[in-house]
Amino acid sequence: MGINILGMGKYVPEQVLTNDDFTRFIETNDEWIRTRTGIVSRPMAGWEPTWYMGKKASLEAIEKAGIDPAEIGLVISTTATADFHTPSMASVIQYETGAVNAGAFDLNAACTGFVYALDVARRFLETDRTIKYVLVSANESLSRFLDFTDRGSCILFGDGAAAAVVEYSDKLYSSALGSDGSGGKYLYARAMQVAPEIAQDPPADFTSDFEDSPLHKLRQNGKEVYKFATQALPKSFELAAGKIGITKDDIDWFIPHQANIRIIETAAKKLGAPMDKFITTLDHYGNTSSASIPLALGEAIEKGLVQRGQKLALIGFGSGLTYGGIILEY
Ligand code: UT7
Repeated sequence: MGINILGMGKYVPEQVLTNDDFTRFIETNDEWIRTRTGIVSRPMAGWEPTWYMGKKASLEAIEKAGIDPAEIGLVISTTATADFHTPSMASVIQYETGAVNAGAFDLNAACTGFVYALDVARRFLETDRTIKYVLVSANESLSRFLDFTDRGSCILFGDGAAAAVVEYSDKLYSSALGSDGSGGKYLYARAMQVAPEIAQDPPADFTSDFEDSPLHKLRQNGKEVYKFATQALPKSFELAAGKIGITKDDIDWFIPHQANIRIIETAAKKLGAPMDKFITTLDHYGNTSSASIPLALGEAIEKGLVQRGQKLALIGFGSGLTYGGIILEY
């Protein structure tokens, strides 16, 4: 059993930071960023909270799906950059979209969040047939968690949201989710000051600067994440594809997490699939964490690249370190 993506929506802040803009406050240049990452510019939230972007994307998805929001049975919001510890972004979006009959919760699998949430949505639709529609909203404001003095990380990320309304269907579907928590130390943002004895165990194995790293700021070991990512993307596809006995040649479009064009190119090579089957939006969005895959998918649908009946592979990786793949028919 699979899902039918009925409608998608997006919200991207108007404010944009170009590569050149970064040269005003860090030592970098457009050429380095373009050639090492593929990024040219990225949207940055100004006044918009994360939930607001999620609301706008969700309303558009509901409108495109042509459904009554009261018929949504569940709202899942994916974010690693929530505005509040509580309430959840999902509860705010549930209220703001008029999804008055829906349950709501947040799911944090970092950049793999949309893949995880879509798979959770499918499982709800399968096991509770009273749920007609699930709204999955991926909303991120990475800019609020960036250290703008760290040139190795701050140039990578953008802000934005994308959402999908999905329903039960008997279309082709497979998924595989994974996590390697031993790599948590390579990409993290501390949330709270914790007592040293509590912090000792895993964080001692995090990075040497863990205890000194500021709260709410992203810390990254780019090389280690890069290594992980180039394995995780092909693995996510192969695990999901293996379950239903299909190969890369059966796939019309790969929609990978948008972190670095070189990661995507390496993954394509490892899979033996041509780059022109990979949707990329990195140049203008940068890495929008869990919003990156649905933003890329939504844009490809809008452009008429992705069409009904085609087979898609959504493949992601992120902090955790998490990874996951979904194969579905659009
Ligand atoms: O959703 C997951 C999020 N994270 C990722 O996906 C990160 C994955 N990793 C990467 O994408 C890459 O590792 C980076 C783009 C972060 C870095 O690229 P790299 O080719 O691995 O560069 P590097 O870290 O080896 O740095 C090479 C040089 C260094 O200078 P030295 O030590 O050789 O003199 C860096 O200090 O480039 C320097 N550098 C920069 N130079 C100009 C690092 N950042 C910059 C910058 N501008 N923004």
